[in-house]
Amino acid sequence: MATGLVLALALWVGCSPCLGREAAPTQPRLQCQASRYPVAVDCFWTLPPAPDSTRTTSFIATYRLGVAAQGQSRPCLQPRPEATSCTIPDVQMFSMVPYVLNVTAVHRQGVSSSFLPFVPENIIKPDPPEGVRLSPLPGQRLWVQWEPPRSWPFPEIFSLKYRLRYKRHGATRFRQVGPIEATSFTLRAVRPQARYCIQVAAQDLTDYGESSAWSLPAAASVTLGLKSKVNSSKKPSPTTSSMAGRIMTP
Ligand SMILES: *[C@@H]1O[C@H](CO)[C@@H](O)[C@H](O)[C@H]1NC(C)=O
Ligand SMILES: *[C@@H]1O[C@H](CO)[C@@H](O)[C@H](O)[C@H]1NC(C)=O
Repeated sequence: MATGLVLALALWVGCSPCLGREAAPTQPRLQCQASRYPVAVDCFWTLPPAPDSTRTTSFIATYRLGVAAQGQSRPCLQPRPEATSCTIPDVQMFSMVPYVLNVTAVHRQGVSSSFLPFVPENIIKPDPPEGVRLSPLPGQRLWVQWEPPRSWPFPEIFSLKYRLRYKRHGATRFRQVGPIEATSFTLRAVRPQARYCIQVAAQDLTDYGESSAWSLPAAASVTLGLKSKVNSSKKPSPTTSSMAGRIMTP
C-alpha cells in the first residue's frame, strides 16, 4: 500500500509539469432538469478547473431532437454567452427520440464540446413544496398544509404526489408518510408537549423522474390544550386545499 502511494505520488510529481504546458481544453460537465415540465428544461454546467491560459470566455449551447447529426439544431437559450446555464423552451412531451444538448466551451486556444442526451420525462424533478404550515386540531392532532412549488406550471394537469417526514424533538429518526395525493394531511396521536419538525417533498404523480428535495421545515410545539405554538416557514393564509382522507398511525 505504502509503496503504491509513493509510486503514485512520484508519477504525479513527475507528470505535473506537463499539465501546465499544453493542457487539453476542459470539457463542460452537463446536467439538465425539468422542474417546470412541460414548459421548459433547464440545463446547467460546470467546467473542471483549467490553467489560466485556457480559461473559457463563452459557451455555445444548442440542442436537437434525436441523436442523428442531420437533426435541426436549435439554440438553448442563454442569458449571456458567459452564463453556465440555458433553457430549452417548448418541450415536446413523450418524444420517441431523446433530446441532445451540445455545450461548446470557447477557450482562447480552441473549443471543446460536451453532449448530454436526455428524455424530458426522465429528468422531471419538481422544486420542493412551499408554504408548509401546521395547525393544531383538537384531540392531539396536527393539520399539515402546503402548496405545490410555484415553479410547477400546471399542477391541475400534471399532478404531484407528496411525501411527509416528521420528527419529534429529541427523536433520532424521521417517520415518513405518503404518497399523499392532496396538499394537506392530519397527523394523529401527536405527543402532548412535544415539538415536531415537518418537511414535505413532491414527485410527479405518475412516477416520472425523481422526487424534489425536502421543503423548508415547519415546526410546532403541541401543548396540552387545544392551542399549539406554531412556527411555519410561511405565514398561514386561507387555502382551498382539501383535507386528506387518509389516517396515519404512527
Ligand atoms: C456542437 O456545437 C458546436 C458549436 O455550435 C458545433 O460546432 C458542433 O458541430 C456541434 N456538434 C454536434 C455534434 O452537433
Ligand atoms: C417561533 O419563532 C420565533 C422567531 O421567529 C421564536 O422567537 C420563537 O421562539 C419560536 N417559537 C417556537 C415555539 O419555536
